[in-house]
Amino acid sequence: MTGQAAPTSFRVNGRPVEVSGDPMRRLSDVLRDDLGLTGTKVGCDAGDCGACTVRLDGDPVCACLVALGQMAGRDVATVEGLADGDRLSPLQAAFLRLGAAQCGICTPGMLMASDSLVAAEPEPNVAQVMDALAGVLCRCTGYRKILEAVLTADARSADARGADVRSTTPSPTAGSAVGASIARVDGPDQVTGRTAFGADRVPTSALVLRTVRSPHAHARFTIGDLGGLYAAHPGLVRVLVAADVPGQNRYGIYAAGKDQPVLADGYVRYRGEAVAALVGDAETVESIADAELPVAWQPLPALLDIEAAAAPGATQLHDGSPRNVLTAGRVVRGDVTAALAASAVVATGTFETSHVEHAYIEPEAGYAERSGDRIAVFATTQTPYMDRDELALILGLTPEQVQIIPSACGGGFGGKLDLSLQPLIAVAAWLVGRPVRCVYSRPESMRSTTKRHPARIVATLGADEAGQLTAVDVHADFDTGAYASWGPTVANRVPVHASGPYVVPAVRATSRAIYTNGPIAGAFRGFGVPQVAIAQEAVLDELAAKLGMDRLEIRLRNALRAGSTTATGQVLVASAGLAACLAALRPAWGRATEDAAAFNATASGGNGHSPGLVRRGVGIGAMWYGIGNTSLPNPSTVKIGLQRDGSFTLFSGAQEIGQGSNTIIAQIAADSLDVPLASIRMVTGDTDRTPDAGKTSASRQTFVSGNATKLAADALLRLMEVSGPDLALLPESEDGCILVGTGTYDPRTSPLDADGQGVPYETYGFGAQIAVVDVDMELGTTIVRRIVAAHDVGRAINPMLVEGQIHGGIAQGLGMALMEEYYAARTDNLHDYLIPTIGDVPEIECILVEDPEPAGPFGAKGVGEPALIPTAPAILGAIRDATGARIDRVPATPARVLEAIRVVSKGPVEAGDG
Ligand code: FES
Ligand code: FES
Repeated sequence: MTGQAAPTSFRVNGRPVEVSGDPMRRLSDVLRDDLGLTGTKVGCDAGDCGACTVRLDGDPVCACLVALGQMAGRDVATVEGLADGDRLSPLQAAFLRLGAAQCGICTPGMLMASDSLVAAEPEPNVAQVMDALAGVLCRCTGYRKILEAVLTADARSADARGADVRSTTPSPTAGSAVGASIARVDGPDQVTGRTAFGADRVPTSALVLRTVRSPHAHARFTIGDLGGLYAAHPGLVRVLVAADVPGQNRYGIYAAGKDQPVLADGYVRYRGEAVAALVGDAETVESIADAELPVAWQPLPALLDIEAAAAPGATQLHDGSPRNVLTAGRVVRGDVTAALAASAVVATGTFETSHVEHAYIEPEAGYAERSGDRIAVFATTQTPYMDRDELALILGLTPEQVQIIPSACGGGFGGKLDLSLQPLIAVAAWLVGRPVRCVYSRPESMRSTTKRHPARIVATLGADEAGQLTAVDVHADFDTGAYASWGPTVANRVPVHASGPYVVPAVRATSRAIYTNGPIAGAFRGFGVPQVAIAQEAVLDELAAKLGMDRLEIRLRNALRAGSTTATGQVLVASAGLAACLAALRPAWGRATEDAAAFNATASGGNGHSPGLVRRGVGIGAMWYGIGNTSLPNPSTVKIGLQRDGSFTLFSGAQEIGQGSNTIIAQIAADSLDVPLASIRMVTGDTDRTPDAGKTSASRQTFVSGNATKLAADALLRLMEVSGPDLALLPESEDGCILVGTGTYDPRTSPLDADGQGVPYETYGFGAQIAVVDVDMELGTTIVRRIVAAHDVGRAINPMLVEGQIHGGIAQGLGMALMEEYYAARTDNLHDYLIPTIGDVPEIECILVEDPEPAGPFGAKGVGEPALIPTAPAILGAIRDATGARIDRVPATPARVLEAIRVVSKGPVEAGDG
């Protein structure tokens, strides 16, 4: 049933509406495109993510699965209908107050599913909330604060009804912002559905762009005459091919590594690479089948793993990269061979990790619009200034001719540090002279954007009889895929961190990033450190076992402390709180190990299964992480202006991606100026108006942009003092400021020498986590029961947001440990690619250790990536504790766990056995 039909009448948020059009159109599209209700978000168009959840006749449904033709006479409620003007619903108020939203893209769906639940069950229990929210995915929060918000009594109490935004989020007075768990400054827009993500703003005259992508991982191709395509589709305005790119058809993160074309030029290196872009009206562009593009393919053998790609004689995928080695990293200190030979105990292992998809709930989206000799791009990104400079090269313009206006970012985690659709829409808008928009479908997003690098890591550790580490020898190969992206960053960061957060006198850590015809691997929360931590922590457990030492105690004995020397020869001046984290975990460690022993000793395991069927284990992982770029400049600049009315405007280009940087920076500014937080207005996200704060990555914004904010405040205070009584006479700038203080901060680092010796980072985050798991010995399934996390964050500027980062990192670490594994063309949707749901994330106890960093703003460091790193090592250690089996390849799927159990219980598998 397609085609036009009589208008359909139904009610939205209590108001009657009438909508014409194809009765097969999705309700989500009707709400967003016809009725302007963009609070209903779209993450998959397939019923997998729940972002589009609305209430239909009271029940929660995925609006993307409801057709317009099914709507006659029905009632739909959306997030826009929850609040009464500024007066939030109790659930909205609880989400805001308790930090249940981070990027906010899932928040409307979460709220509508919760609203439906509390309407039916005013006092739900944990199981009921988990059941009600099981179909709504969140990639940021780890769900715990969402659960807390729905359960909180305030969310349903009569007193809370009608709470307005101001009473829900009391603003700190002068001098009390830092350290306060205040609600996010962008929170009210998030809980009311007003936040504008990349797909939420569209100029009315915009054309639509859709890419045609390679079905082959490695191929040559030619595109034939396009006349027939244009003739068949009058609404097709332009077909873009490589030759249409006005400037340089190459981009990439590093000046020497710009190897990725906007549109492939006769040769594709991965499945999903864009070869052409169709630009026209939406109906036309969507109606054209890929097969209509006259492409002649010549498939080539594909190099799909690092062994094949690095083998002698393998096809070289890029000029200047013999054996397909993009780059290599190295840190060497002391004589490792001699130290291992002299060690009392030595342990070793080889570990493999998989492609991991970022799975942010917001697919890439945005539009570009040309205005004379300038172009503006509104799109989702983590790095507006790099986008600006890259687009200038691609368009053959100066950076000043390009304006980036970042949309709200519906999750990034590193995946939106690379350009995605921006070059395509920018080239199209530049050439056709009309605004051009694009929204990636979920499969397109997953096929074409970066992944966590799969790794193969060999790690050997030695220790003396007392358990003091003597040597670490690590080699890690990373599959960087078809293009360089952040491969050099991973290859350089990993050797620095390969010794773990420990004092080790002899270290040999080497790495390579190797091109393949696999998905492009890039930045993903930790830049390779989570992968190497899996290997290094597992081998450390093995050493502890050989020595008969407690696993927490061996970490404590070797922990880097203030005054310690790292593998790069850097002496840690201060703020190295790993020992404090481990000490804080000791009581929980003791209880958990006793509880597990008791559980396993119980005949039935206390779990209703036959004896020994489910075994409980406890694991521990520790980490360190350098804040900011590795031995490279990464400055941030912030401006603060004084307005004539005595208020302040903070101009920050630090891109908020859900982690809370806007709120943190405002808190730092308020206390630096010693004024109430409410007197600070933020101007963010516009390369024409805000100074360059660098990219949002490497857990750097709190430390680097926080320092820049403090310096800007200091500069402004000095100007105000000098201006004294003349303040009232000063002229106003365009932005209404009468004085502006500017602060720039660049972490103090030094280049690494040929042996990787130097000061790669000014400061480091430290942490450790304990995991408790139950493993079904017959099914191989693992359930994580509890995580206790202790993190040294220097100073928690906003403890609630720090906890949110820890929860979210743990959820992603759990996914990496147990379920996430991307295969091109097989798992490019959120149905086959599994990420943790609310039911997968256990109870989490956070312990914030504040070992102040003297160089940090108010002592703060960063926690975004540190939170994820110890989770998988702790879970894998717990599986081993439960089963005796070491998992050498993640994720630890049931099949891999069973196989590992089989190997330890029956000895090595014989050839031909199973
Ligand atoms: S957009 Fe409807 S379920 Fe994902
Ligand atoms: S806050 Fe849930 S996906 Fe970002």
